Amino acid sequence: MTGVTFDAPTVIRTKRDDGRLSDAAIDWVIEAYTDGRVTDEQMSALLMAIFLRGMDHRETARWTEAMLVSGARMDFTDMRCDGRPLVTVDKHSTGGVGDKVTLPLVAAVAACGAAVPQASGRGLGHTGGTLDKLESIVGFSADLPTARVRQQLCDVGAAIFAAGRLAPADAKLYALRDVTGTVESLPLIASSVMSKKLAEGAGALVLDVKVGSGALLKSESQCRELAETMIALGARHDVPTAALLTDMNCPLGRTAGNALEVAEALEVLAGGGPADVVQLTVQLAAEMLNLVGVHGGDPAQTLRNGTAMDRFRALVAAQGGDLSVPLPVGACSETLTASRGGTMGDIDAMAVGLTVWRLGAGRSRPGERVQPGAGIRMHRRPGEPVAAGEPLFTLYTDTPERFGAAMAELDGGWSVGAAPPVPRPLIIDRITP
Ligand code: URA
Repeated sequence: MTGVTFDAPTVIRTKRDDGRLSDAAIDWVIEAYTDGRVTDEQMSALLMAIFLRGMDHRETARWTEAMLVSGARMDFTDMRCDGRPLVTVDKHSTGGVGDKVTLPLVAAVAACGAAVPQASGRGLGHTGGTLDKLESIVGFSADLPTARVRQQLCDVGAAIFAAGRLAPADAKLYALRDVTGTVESLPLIASSVMSKKLAEGAGALVLDVKVGSGALLKSESQCRELAETMIALGARHDVPTAALLTDMNCPLGRTAGNALEVAEALEVLAGGGPADVVQLTVQLAAEMLNLVGVHGGDPAQTLRNGTAMDRFRALVAAQGGDLSVPLPVGACSETLTASRGGTMGDIDAMAVGLTVWRLGAGRSRPGERVQPGAGIRMHRRPGEPVAAGEPLFTLYTDTPERFGAAMAELDGGWSVGAAPPVPRPLIIDRITP
């Protein structure tokens, strides 16, 4: 960067006027934002300009690299556990509604013999975040120093921790995007996901790219491009990366909201739970194990025989959580009942995501505390029969003044009709390098 000086207004104007940011400008703005020389106001303006104007492949790759080198990078390649080299693999979802799959998934993969170092985030926009979910367990801490992560990968086979120290530029940008309407941008999503995933040091990566109304990017073509962009970023850094495109028009499972989702994940780990959550867990686990060549374990079997549950309990205990304490439930509830009988139609994932956010499960200001017990229970899944008077949805919150706005979001997001909705495949496509 010798001889070139930058300033935030010029960088913002360049992107605002649809220019391309040079490598040096990107390096400067990411470094200066991370250490506080570029303010939140200035970065908000730049993010909005990127949201509106986009970034090309070169800019996206450089933005990712600048965020990657903004902090520490973990490396497990030297590790041996019980005399054998540690094989690591992770998955990352681009964000959905009711997506609690990470919880049973990391446990199932660990039970099959691969280790999962998972750097996770909090809720983003209307989508939930793994850390917010896990922190609804009393005592659970996602703040793990590297030495603890390494120890836990040997002892338990998985660790789920706040990405914070890894790609700290992403940690700041992620929180800022969440409250500035700049989440749904392909280059910002790709660079956010890949900077922290490359920093976490997993040997391979499977991406769950959500498609549909409740996804951050809605159309299949945009999601395909997102998947291909992230796979290329993985290849650039020698991390084998594959992706599944999966349906997010309808929420996953029967619950959305932090503690409610942990409870449902525990059902899956106990060999039950909703079929779609089980299917996605098993498919993603198979992809992860295949990518790193760990064969011989059967993820579905680990859910049925309790070995995945054992891993999950061990992970929670190692991170200070106490599953013997009941999970929180919002102090107030309201239930919507069917005014007539029929069949439950499509349930719109975006409507449910916004409902849950309005109930207090997400943030509207940086650093805001979320309500662990806020959320929704969907008593009927699309295609299930409904009798007049039966409960369809129960909403939970600690702050009942939120019910009005939450019900308004849900309104129009579901229907009960005479015919079942047209079924959609959960797994839309598999994209490999
Ligand atoms: N997950 C991330 O880590 N970042 C995004 O921007 C979206 C999903």
